[in-house]
Amino acid sequence: MKSARRRLLRQAGTLSVLAPVTQAWSQSSACGPTGSATAGPFYVSNAPEGVDINAAKAPGKPMRIGGTVYGEDGVTPVARARVEIWHADADGAYHPNGSGDISRYRRGEINLRGVTHTDNAGRYAFTSLVPGHYGNRRRHIHWRVAAAGHRELTTQSYWLDERGTARERSDGADRRAEACRWVDFKDEQGAAVGVFDVVLKTA
Ligand SMILES: [Fe+2]
Repeated sequence: MKSARRRLLRQAGTLSVLAPVTQAWSQSSACGPTGSATAGPFYVSNAPEGVDINAAKAPGKPMRIGGTVYGEDGVTPVARARVEIWHADADGAYHPNGSGDISRYRRGEINLRGVTHTDNAGRYAFTSLVPGHYGNRRRHIHWRVAAAGHRELTTQSYWLDERGTARERSDGADRRAEACRWVDFKDEQGAAVGVFDVVLKTA
């Protein structure tokens, strides 16, 4: 009970940090349903619940990302949506650098993966670090979002400042990602802070 309360308070703190950004920049109704993209080779099922997903304190630039999950109209928030992200570390490696169920791995091998749920206003937030590059991929975060009455979404988000760069052109994956999946990260006291709203299709 105590730890659940602590978790809620921690999540509320993360959300309040993001609140000004969220209010200033919410474009979900202009986006339409969020487009899908492959989960890639590094999806591990049954990742732990938590909003600070850098549990191992891996080095890197701090990152906060949050937003709102909406229904298909892009206006109605979806409460209790399950939001899962996973991404590479600052050197481009996943932890674990593999796939399958989490039970295949030791606790110390798991980092930069986590699951949270939206609050009554449809909001979620994570704290982590800015992922690095690997292979020919542009910088990205993987997402899986699910909610009752809606189609599950697997997708990826990108960094707006990489759009149109040689790095982006070298990346053959997900070439037609819509504008709303390019997140405009702002620098706030040394942390990259971004908003990513998700619009789910009705089931
Ligand atoms: Fe990836």
